[in-house]
Amino acid sequence: MVTGLQDTSTYYPLTEDEVAMLLGERGVSLGAFSDEGELIGYAAAYFPGSSPDNLGLDLGLCSDRLLQVAHLEAGLVSPFYRGRGWQRRLYQELIKGLIAQGKYRYILSTVACNNYPALHNSLRLKLYITELREKYGNMLRYVLFRDIKEPININPASVISCRHTDIELQHRLIRQGYYGFDVKYNTDSLVIYYGVKD
Ligand SMILES: CC(C)(COP(=O)(O)OP(=O)(O)OC[C@H]1O[C@@H](n2cnc3c(N)ncnc32)[C@H](O)[C@@H]1OP(=O)(O)O)[C@@H](O)C(=O)NCCC(=O)NCCS
Repeated sequence: MVTGLQDTSTYYPLTEDEVAMLLGERGVSLGAFSDEGELIGYAAAYFPGSSPDNLGLDLGLCSDRLLQVAHLEAGLVSPFYRGRGWQRRLYQELIKGLIAQGKYRYILSTVACNNYPALHNSLRLKLYITELREKYGNMLRYVLFRDIKEPININPASVISCRHTDIELQHRLIRQGYYGFDVKYNTDSLVIYYGVKD
């Protein structure tokens, strides 16, 4: 599933233990299969609870709220099926399930700054860029966040765009309370759109 990537740093593969955890009580896994039974794509939600890998810690969520966090993990689509909207569909179904269950209020995930498909899909599903920091060792990642109870609305008059490579500006914007809410694909760099809450 991770074959066919031009830049392998965009995806941090799960360990066997992590996959086992996703398939156990602390996760929900979803697969899409072709008529022939071939795996098209896989995505999972992970419930980190009070464990130190809870992304809510990166956003300063208090301990009560950490228990209401679900991560979107491991959006993977077979190279033969990429570019046909499968990741979005899988994430959409997972989010629908989380909303129906009513136990989780915050949906979080990480995406590499140059991973256009994963970033665009997450932003379209109303997750917002809320942090930009090194994760998984020293890999720079956007931390994306959606509050199911209190959706974020962006004030259109506040919108500022920048290249995904302009880390300093993005850190400054995030510190000032801006959220990343859209991305456009350019051949040399991505353009990220930030704005403050309405
Ligand atoms: C990231 C990944 C899951 C995307 O899945 P997908 O089902 O192909 O994504 P989509 O078909 O929904 O594509 C989303 C967008 O990216 C575009 N896109 C897809 N592959 C692309 C590529 N290689 N280069 C540029 N754009 C691409 C699509 O045209 C679409 O554009 P649009 O939103 O402007 O219409 C898939 O590429 C993958 O498995 N990558 C390896 C693992 C990975 O990085 N996972 C994400 C971890 S957060």
